[in-house]
Amino acid sequence: MLYIAPSLFAADFSQLTNEVKRVQRAGANMLHLDVMDGHFVPNLSFGPQLIKDLRKRTNLLFDVHLMLTDPDKYVDSFIKAGADSITFHLESNSNVDALLSHLEECNCKSALSLSPDTPAEAVFPYLDRISMVLVMTVYPGFGGQKFMPQMMDKVRAIRAEIIKRGLDVNIQVDGGIGLGNVGIVTEAGANVLVAGSSIFGAKKTGAVIKQMREEAAANPYRA
Ligand code: DX5
Ligand code: ZN
Repeated sequence: MLYIAPSLFAADFSQLTNEVKRVQRAGANMLHLDVMDGHFVPNLSFGPQLIKDLRKRTNLLFDVHLMLTDPDKYVDSFIKAGADSITFHLESNSNVDALLSHLEECNCKSALSLSPDTPAEAVFPYLDRISMVLVMTVYPGFGGQKFMPQMMDKVRAIRAEIIKRGLDVNIQVDGGIGLGNVGIVTEAGANVLVAGSSIFGAKKTGAVIKQMREEAAANPYRA
């Protein structure tokens, strides 16, 4: 299944409820929530309180992307705030096995993210325990950066491994995604598309999401 996940980081922060409703009306079926600690990445965003308050305003799936040095210290507050899925980075300080076990115990979907310098194979030992792999297509920390096409080899390698092992794992791409590269990323095997500036920055939000779905339809990935 194809998911279009606008990244709230690119929204107008003075109008958040309206912004969420705008992308939901426009056809998004997931909301990507970027949490940054000013340490793992050189930027700050928002925390669990915002997610908790937005939870009352929409039924979109909440996909929380933790760009934190110590995600294990904070996951519980994000689960409590209403996260449907929590993504943390393989490059974080947390013990991956222990944190995945904790998320399993909490019945929260988990995902692992790979920054551009981390190879595909690093996530292979965990593929049967997660619902999604996030392949970063920019260095994390900022919206509006240029898509790195060289990450598609990584997407292909992870998709091939998922298929080889008969698993049902989504592949998400995040960073510089928009019209023009949706075909490339879906052809490589991604089926969850995060898009910040290309969706929130669009005047005709509905038309952009519709066109993204059309571009993806040429290369449908079926789990
Ligand atoms: C980058 C974040 C992204 C970012 C995407 O660190 O993880 O989710 O907001 O923004 P765009 O689509 O503008 O690159
Ligand atoms: Zn993100």
